[in-house]
Amino acid sequence: MPPARFGDILNAMDIPASQQLLVLYSREQIEKRVAELGDAITRDYAGESVIMIGVLKGSAIFLADLARSVHIDCTFDFVAVSSYKKGRTTSGAVKLTKDLDEPIEGKHVIIVEDILDTGITLGYLRKIFMQHHPKSLKIAACLDKPARRIEPIEADYVGFSIPNQFVIGYGMDYAEKFRNLPDICILPPDFPL
Ligand code: PRP
Repeated sequence: MPPARFGDILNAMDIPASQQLLVLYSREQIEKRVAELGDAITRDYAGESVIMIGVLKGSAIFLADLARSVHIDCTFDFVAVSSYKKGRTTSGAVKLTKDLDEPIEGKHVIIVEDILDTGITLGYLRKIFMQHHPKSLKIAACLDKPARRIEPIEADYVGFSIPNQFVIGYGMDYAEKFRNLPDICILPPDFPL
């Protein structure tokens, strides 16, 4: 894996130049894969309207790219959840902190996530969205970490299936930082933060 191309961003964060983040998926690889997912969604929903629901904050960048790669009638909504995560761990409890703005009853819904990890967040959201009786409900996840799954849930559209490594960039954070890195990178366990 090549070293990441954003030394200046790390400098701005006061992270020593000797520390290198490894790129798991480059911006070019992400762009190509998102275009493929967009094509699949365009085919699957030809002639239909879809609401894409982003789960804040991590999904924002993936949703922005995915929505521009589909060629169908598409609107957005966003929800926010608090999952009582701290650093790299989670307690498993999820709470909705921002609800949908628009009704989804009778509509085609795609939940858009940056990462499907334990599945607790998406399991929770799928359950509450199904209570609103959408016409259909699918999941698009930029990354899938199947080895971490606790809730039995799968995404219908997956960008990349990855091993159990802590990833940052392309919307994903560590302690709210790194979301604006254009590549998906691995955060080494000993990274100084
Ligand atoms: C991340 C990600 C998903 C969730 C997936 O969100 O965006 O929402 O974790 O994990 P799970 O499958 O184990 O539930 P996070 O809580 O880090 O918040 P963020 O989106 O604001 O980064």
